[in-house]
Amino acid sequence: MPFTLASRTGKMNPSVIREILKLTEKPGIISLAGGLPSPRTFPVDAFARACASVLQSDGAGALQYAASEGYGPLREAVAAQLPWDVDPAQVLITTGSQQGLDLVAKVLLDAGSRVLVETPTYLGALQAFAPMEPVVQAVPSDDEGVDIAALAAGVGSGADKARFLYVLPNFQNPTGRTMSEARRAALVATAAERGLPIVEDNPYGDLWFDAPPPAPLTARNPAGCIYLGSFSKVLAPGLRLGYLVAPHAVFPKLLQAKQAADLHTPGFNQRMVAEVLQGGFLERHVPTIRTLYRQQRDAMLAALEREMGGLGVSWNRPAGGMFLWLRLPQGMHAVDLLPLAVERGVAFVPGAAFYAGDADAHTLRLSFVTASAAQIDTAIAALADAVRALALAPTL
Ligand SMILES: Cc1ncc(COP(=O)(O)O)c(C=O)c1O
Repeated sequence: MPFTLASRTGKMNPSVIREILKLTEKPGIISLAGGLPSPRTFPVDAFARACASVLQSDGAGALQYAASEGYGPLREAVAAQLPWDVDPAQVLITTGSQQGLDLVAKVLLDAGSRVLVETPTYLGALQAFAPMEPVVQAVPSDDEGVDIAALAAGVGSGADKARFLYVLPNFQNPTGRTMSEARRAALVATAAERGLPIVEDNPYGDLWFDAPPPAPLTARNPAGCIYLGSFSKVLAPGLRLGYLVAPHAVFPKLLQAKQAADLHTPGFNQRMVAEVLQGGFLERHVPTIRTLYRQQRDAMLAALEREMGGLGVSWNRPAGGMFLWLRLPQGMHAVDLLPLAVERGVAFVPGAAFYAGDADAHTLRLSFVTASAAQIDTAIAALADAVRALALAPTL
């Protein structure tokens, strides 16, 4: 072929999840694989009204090129809703928080520079970092997130110092775990002591079920953190609207990277969301999402209790978000379970996809938000059947 590929393309891989999602297109498959918000939560009527209103009040403005920083009233609304003192000039509206990860990687990573991540971590972040050819180092983590002593040991110094720690304190993707207050305090203190910047990704923080999570890491040391947020899980992912909040020292470079990437995030979408947000819409809407997702989490937990008894399978109880993390018994690998599960009509994501370092092959991620409670019952029964079949398989 006449094209010579850049060496960085060698670091780019197709998302395992997108490949698995193809399987789920087969008729009759219930997918617990994708991280798709429930379409029942999309506020279609509110957007229909906002769309008409935006077009009537300033249709030409909404359809014109716009500022790379984002639509002023939306930046102000984002700053106002965050639980620390944020200057709207520090808010960059992004094309989903996924773009925030891409911009951060471009601005902070050189080829060969080290970046620290939790174990496991968000696959999309690993994909966003990869083209910059960093060395991604997994920090040992437990049910509360990164181990502080391991983090301190991993920061390094001089030219080898890690450029940042990427961390998801709330209802993490993929595990659903949440970082405790004590762990947050220790993490921020350790990072500040060692001059390690934190990139905090928080798309799920508003989706708590019983009580709000502790304050974000960024609220405790705004000068040392870049914070990523998203409207994907509280309004709709199709808007492709996210934001980042960055210290003034790094903001201009993130803005220049954004200009090079896409000039700006669609102004029409930004104006519609600014319109929808007026009058405290999220305060009424988000509790309805929490109620639905809590019911679906409970349906999954009940089905797991009912179906998985005696199979040696264990799982956690996420306090919010969209995902539950399951561990198969010793010797049973999630990649071997997947084809048996698909044959029985259910799909999931093997956990190995989410590890930067050594993967735990026994783990898998289940989403409890896309399928209905009735489908979850059917799917978990099918999954238990697949586990029984794998336990009997001759290779074990
Ligand atoms: C942890 C995390 N960060 C970022 C994203 C990207 O979200 P979006 O680009 O839709 O804002 C996702 C999406 O699933 C996610 O789980």
